[in-house]
Amino acid sequence: MAFDPMLQRQIMGRFATGVTVVTTRYGDGEVTGMTANAVMSLSLDPPLVVVSVDKKTTMHGCLQEGQCYAINILARDQEALSTQFATPGPKDFSDLDLMEGETGAPILTGTLGYLDCKLTEVLSAGDHDMYVGEIVAGNLGEGDPLLFYSGKYRELAELKDA
Ligand SMILES: Cc1cc2nc3c(=O)[nH]c(=O)nc-3n(C[C@H](O)[C@H](O)[C@H](O)COP(=O)(O)O)c2cc1C
Repeated sequence: MAFDPMLQRQIMGRFATGVTVVTTRYGDGEVTGMTANAVMSLSLDPPLVVVSVDKKTTMHGCLQEGQCYAINILARDQEALSTQFATPGPKDFSDLDLMEGETGAPILTGTLGYLDCKLTEVLSAGDHDMYVGEIVAGNLGEGDPLLFYSGKYRELAELKDA
């Protein structure tokens, strides 16, 4: 019998992660984005990252079309952005402070850092696809991270007596 997907979610929810917004530019210059924590550094030489994208999302087709994406790593004070980009459907960028990446993907400001990537490979894996991207640009920001653990947003606590 297949493993219970709810239990898989709960167990993997114990694996604390940061939170990103993955953005792309596609079609006639339209932009969209999606909150994602299934993001991983894949290779240093060549510099590759991967994002796992649910085939049911709008983002899935947009990434295929755009052939590029940026991973924007959210800061603690950007929880509202995470909520906004986790809501299905068109995303409103009009109030956001943006830069344009080398690939054309929108880069959010005020983040802890970003990676601008061109799509190199799509690996199918069950109900998700793995979008492998080669990093063409990136930069660091400052601040504390927004974390996701056990289905809730969290923040770093300094360890006492560490
Ligand atoms: C913290 C968090 C992390 C998420 N990580 C992913 C992810 O890695 N991959 C994914 O496909 N969806 C992920 N989602 C869900 C998408 O953000 C959500 O399905 C979104 O509405 C997709 O928008 P779209 O269908 O308009 O593209 C995550 C949601 C949250 C709140």
